[in-house]
Amino acid sequence: MATSTPTFFSNALLAWYQRHRRPLPWRDTTDPYAIWLSEIILQQTRVRQGLPYYLKFLERFPTVHDLANAPEDEVLRLWQGLGYYSRARNLHFTAKQVVTDFNGEFPGNYAGLLQLQGVGSYTAAAIASFAYREPVAVLDGNVYRVLARVFGRHENIAAPASKKVFEELANSQIPTDHPDTFNQAIMEFGAIQCTPVAPDCLFCPLQQECFAFQHGLVNVLPVKEKAKSSRQRFLHYLVLQHDDKIYLKKRPGNDIWQGLYDFFTVETDTLHPDPDVFQDQVATALGVPPIPLHSTGKVYKHVLSHQKISAQFYLISLPIRLRKETEESIGLQLYSISEIEELPKPILIHSFLNEYFF
Ligand code: ADE
Ligand code: SF4
Repeated sequence: MATSTPTFFSNALLAWYQRHRRPLPWRDTTDPYAIWLSEIILQQTRVRQGLPYYLKFLERFPTVHDLANAPEDEVLRLWQGLGYYSRARNLHFTAKQVVTDFNGEFPGNYAGLLQLQGVGSYTAAAIASFAYREPVAVLDGNVYRVLARVFGRHENIAAPASKKVFEELANSQIPTDHPDTFNQAIMEFGAIQCTPVAPDCLFCPLQQECFAFQHGLVNVLPVKEKAKSSRQRFLHYLVLQHDDKIYLKKRPGNDIWQGLYDFFTVETDTLHPDPDVFQDQVATALGVPPIPLHSTGKVYKHVLSHQKISAQFYLISLPIRLRKETEESIGLQLYSISEIEELPKPILIHSFLNEYFF
C-alpha cells in the first residue's frame, strides 16, 4: 500500500483537477453503495449515457437493501438500454451478497471489497479510495495511458504482466492525504486532457516533465499490442548541427538501445507523418519556430527480435544553440565529430554517420 508524499505529478494533477473537473453526482458521495453502482454502470457505458441510469437506480433503490429485495425483472427493466444484461444480473446478485453475507454493509477496505462478486481490482480500488479514502490507486485505460506517457513506460499495456508495473507506479504517486481526489483526477485527466488521440499537450501542465512529450513519443505511448506480432516503429532522427558540432543524447533505460547515443527523435505511427503536424511537434518540443523538415530521402531499416525499425534522418543547421532548459529536459548535448566517433551508438546511427560525417 502506498504511503507516498506529494510529487510533481500528484500536485500537478490535483491542481489541474480543481480547474477542469466535471461535476458528477457520484463525486459528491462517500456511500460505497452509490459509488459501486456508478462504477458498474460506467464499466458499461460513457459518463453522459450512464448518468441518467445512475440517478434512476439511486432513486428507485436508495440503499443496497432496496436493490437486493427488488424483483430481478425490475432491475433488468431499469438497466434496459445499457446492454450486456448479465451485468445487471450480477449487480443484483452482489447486492444480495452484501445483504446476506455482510449484514448490508459494504466491506470497509480494498481487500474486503475484492471478495464481492463482480468487484475486481479496479472497482475495489475505486470504492476503497472514494468511500474510505484508502490510498490504493485505480488502474483503468485512462490511467495506463497517462502513466505510460508521463513516465515513459514502454511496457505493453495489453500484457497481463505489465499490470504490476503500472500498479506500483500509480501507488508510488498516490498522495495519502488525497487518494480519492488523485484517483478521480488521473482518470479525468486521461478522459479530457491526455486523450488517446490528439492529447492537448500544448496546454498541458505536465508538458515539461512528460517523457512522451519531451521525447516525441506521444503517438507511440502507451504501447498496446497483441502477443508476438512484431512491432513496426517509425523513427525520425533530427540531426541538429551547430557550428561544427551535433546534438546527441543518451537513450533512456526503458526502451531499445539503452545507454547508446542517438539524435533528437520523434516517433510516429506512419512512415510519412503529416508534415504540418510533424513540424509543429518538433518546433514545440525544441522550443524553436517551425522549420521545414526534409529527410535525406533514404529509409534505414533495422530488424530487432520483436521490432522492425524504419528510420529517417533530417539534417538541420541551427544558427543558435537550443535553450538551456530544452537541452537539459531532453538531455541533448553538443559533440564534435571526433567525440561522436568515440561514443557508443546503435548500428543504425553509426551507418548514417558513416555516410554523412565520418
Ligand atoms: N469512469 C469510471 N469511473 C469514473 C468516475 N468515478 N468518474 C468519471 N468517470 C468514470
Ligand atoms: Fe499527456 Fe501531452 Fe500532457 Fe504528456 S504533455 S501528459 S502526453 S497531454
